[in-house]
Amino acid sequence: MTITLIGSGNVATVLGKRLQRAGHTILQVCSPRNAEALGAALRAEARKGEAPNAAPEAIQDPKNLKKADLYLVAVSDTAVKDVAGQIRVADALVVHTAGSVPLDVLKEASKRYGVLYPLQSLRKETDPDIIPLLVDGSDEDVRSIVEGVAKTISPMVKRCNDAERLFFHIGGVLVNNFPNYLYTQTDLFLQDKGQSIDMLLPLMAETVRRLKDFPPAEVQTGPAVRGDEATIRKHQEQLEGYPELLEWYNAFTNKIRSFYARKYGVHP
Ligand SMILES: NC(=O)c1ccc[n+]([C@@H]2O[C@H](COP(=O)([O-])OP(=O)(O)OC[C@H]3O[C@@H](n4cnc5c(N)ncnc54)[C@H](OP(=O)(O)O)[C@@H]3O)[C@@H](O)[C@H]2O)c1
Repeated sequence: MTITLIGSGNVATVLGKRLQRAGHTILQVCSPRNAEALGAALRAEARKGEAPNAAPEAIQDPKNLKKADLYLVAVSDTAVKDVAGQIRVADALVVHTAGSVPLDVLKEASKRYGVLYPLQSLRKETDPDIIPLLVDGSDEDVRSIVEGVAKTISPMVKRCNDAERLFFHIGGVLVNNFPNYLYTQTDLFLQDKGQSIDMLLPLMAETVRRLKDFPPAEVQTGPAVRGDEATIRKHQEQLEGYPELLEWYNAFTNKIRSFYARKYGVHP
C-alpha cells in the first residue's frame, strides 16, 4: 500500500517505520516543521535493507500531497480537525490516530475515513514489542481495510467505535499515566531517604506480569487487604513529613479495605 504520513511526531515516526518495515511504501511526510527529519529517518531505515526503494519526500504544505492509498493523520489532537479541513483526497482513505477524537472529524477530507489508534505510549526513539491497535472506519469496507493494514504491523488489533475507543483511552490514563505519577513521587521519597527506585523495578514488573494469569482483584497484596493495622500505622508515621504521599496512602488503604469488605465481607 502507498501511504503518506501527515505529522512527524512520535506516532508518525513509530508507525511510519513499522509500516515501511512491513512492506508498505511511504510516499510523503507532510508536517509544518519536522517533515525532513522523519523523511531522512525513513530513508536511512530503508537503506538498511528492509525497503531499499523507499524514499519518502518531505513536504510542509498539504496542498502538495500526491495521490496515495492511505493518508495517516498523526498530529496533535487539537490539530486533527484543522488538518482534515486542509486535505481533500476524494476517494483515498484517511485515518487519524487519536484516542479521544471522533471518527467523523475526517469526513470533510474524504468519503472514506477511519481510525488507527495505537493503545501504547509511543516516543520517537522507542520501539515497543507490541503496539495494540484500535481500528474503526466510515463503513464496513473501510473498517476491514484499516483492520488489514493494522494487522500488518501488530498482532493485537481490535475494532472499536468512538465510545469504546474512549473507554480504552480512559483505561490508558488510569493504568499508565496515574501510576507513573505515583512512581515519580515514590522515586522522590526514596531519593530523600538516600535510596533508589531501581530496587523496586522487579516488583513493579512482577505486578504487571501476574495480570496475564489472574484478574487484578485476585492478586491484591499488601497490609490494607490483609487488615494489618500495625504495619499501616508504621507506614503512616514514616510518611508524616510527606503530606501528598500520606494522603494517597490513606486514600488507597481505605479504598482497598472497603472494596474487599464489600467483595468478601472481611476487614470492614
Ligand atoms: N504519543 C503517544 O503515545 C500516542 C499514543 C496514541 C495516540 N496518540 C495520538 O496520536 C496523535 C499524534 O501524537 P504524537 O505523540 O505523535 O504527537 P507529537 O509527537 O506532539 O507530534 C504532533 C505532530 O503534529 C504536528 N502538528 C501540530 N499542529 C499541527 C498543525 N496545526 N498542522 C499540521 N501539523 C501539526 C506537528 O508538526 P511539526 O512537528 O512539524 O510542528 C507534529 O508532527 C495525537 O492525536 C495523539 O493523541 C499518541
